Amino acid sequence: MAVQSKRDRPRGRSAEQNWTGNGAAAVSPLHRRLGNPESPVPELGGVCSYADAARPGLDVTETVALLKRHNWVETRLTDLFLTRLNSTPEWEVKGAFSLHLWLDAEHAKWVRERVAELRHPPHRFEQVPDPGLEAFLQEALRSRDTLEVLTAVYRVIKPALLDAYRVHQVAINPLADQPTRRILRFIVLEEEEMIEWGEQALESLLSTASDEEKARVSAWEAHLRAYLAAAGGLLGTERSSEEQLPASRATAEPTLQVDWIPRRDSRLESDNNEFPPHWVYAQRERPVKERMLALICKRLLEMDVPEMMAPIIWKTREQAKKAGKPKQWVYTADMARQVWDEARHSMLGEAWLVAHGIDWTQVPLNVGFSNGLNTLATPDEAHAALYWIEQGLMPRTTGKGYEYDVANEDGNPLAVVFQDFDWADEVLHVHIGRHIVEALGSRKEAERLGEEAFGRVMEARRRRQAEEGEEKHRPWWTAFCETAIGLTPAPLNDEVMASQDAPWKTE
Ligand SMILES: [Fe+2]
Ligand SMILES: [Fe+2]
Ligand SMILES: [Fe+2]
Repeated sequence: MAVQSKRDRPRGRSAEQNWTGNGAAAVSPLHRRLGNPESPVPELGGVCSYADAARPGLDVTETVALLKRHNWVETRLTDLFLTRLNSTPEWEVKGAFSLHLWLDAEHAKWVRERVAELRHPPHRFEQVPDPGLEAFLQEALRSRDTLEVLTAVYRVIKPALLDAYRVHQVAINPLADQPTRRILRFIVLEEEEMIEWGEQALESLLSTASDEEKARVSAWEAHLRAYLAAAGGLLGTERSSEEQLPASRATAEPTLQVDWIPRRDSRLESDNNEFPPHWVYAQRERPVKERMLALICKRLLEMDVPEMMAPIIWKTREQAKKAGKPKQWVYTADMARQVWDEARHSMLGEAWLVAHGIDWTQVPLNVGFSNGLNTLATPDEAHAALYWIEQGLMPRTTGKGYEYDVANEDGNPLAVVFQDFDWADEVLHVHIGRHIVEALGSRKEAERLGEEAFGRVMEARRRRQAEEGEEKHRPWWTAFCETAIGLTPAPLNDEVMASQDAPWKTE
């Protein structure tokens, strides 16, 4: 093979290189390019070479069909995360599900927005694009525990989805459909990261699983793969011969039964409703170190907000679907963003405690707030309660502004940044609250209903806690403060804690 001399070898992408994409070696006489012929100004805005642009690729109709399939899978993935978020006990998995819920909701949003630009109304995003694909995803929704969900999402669905995105990327005309290509690149990046997390999580949990559990997980993977194969793969292009499908779990459970009870793993105390930080942080006569620690504990507790929001989103969407007026995707996308923000606030607490050498699992993380609202209030009431709580965080001197001041007074730079972003997020959440304001007709009605529902649910919880007594709801704040910051706090005022207007709220 002749070796090119250095002088002959083109630098960068030369016109010649571009033209060799289709096998022709000659430089097209039409390529009169600007600048140095050996290193010309790249053509076509740097999007792609002439050769890449010369391959026709998918047309608009084909692209819309593919995007609708992607949308369907992303939508079902959000269903998986929403319906599993509460019942998944493993803390780190729950946090990742909150993030992945939002990422996949975003992916569905971008894909739908692109379809809307492609001249193909009506969009019918709620219509099943392929019964085989739907049967596969419905099967996955019936995963029974964390190992099965992780297997379904990160070993079967997402790797197949990633492949489908890659097939789409290759089949696209990069110039004609640059806007689709752009969103696919971002989606692929995030899907790769999610799969990597999922694989690590699964490996870690499987390494401590029994042989029986491992066999069950393998069987579930094979079960789902059979459904995926029957659908012809995610793109429906590899239809296999009629194989006998294993019996569907959807036969026994035609309407998905969701377990909304929030669960915690064995490291965490979840029944103890005693949570003095709700009062401590606001008592200005207490030392700033103690108030700061209280705020951090309140951050950590915020995982209960995703656990109240997941059922709100799911039930509201189901009701709307039944009424023949499906919710617009912006509802899911906005609410999923808030779910992730609240999980992230909880992670801020966790990260702060770890950074300060404090064992965060010593903080009881009760599920009383979310469970109370999930069982004793309607989805609209629960959402209104959330809106009312977040409105209450806005006044500068008592709300998030005060919390930020505490961090500054304490002189803790990490807490300052954490509270600063927490404050910014909460302002965004009041804006997202427009969804419940619109549903109820007015801000006034949302606030009225929210305050009423919150008061009613928390009163029921207070009564139950009084009945159950200290054995279940054991005091922990004094011992925790002593271990964490070497401070013995002043006694807590039981009367304040038992009063009606106590700020018994998360967030
Ligand atoms: Fe996604
Ligand atoms: Fe919030
Ligand atoms: Fe929050």
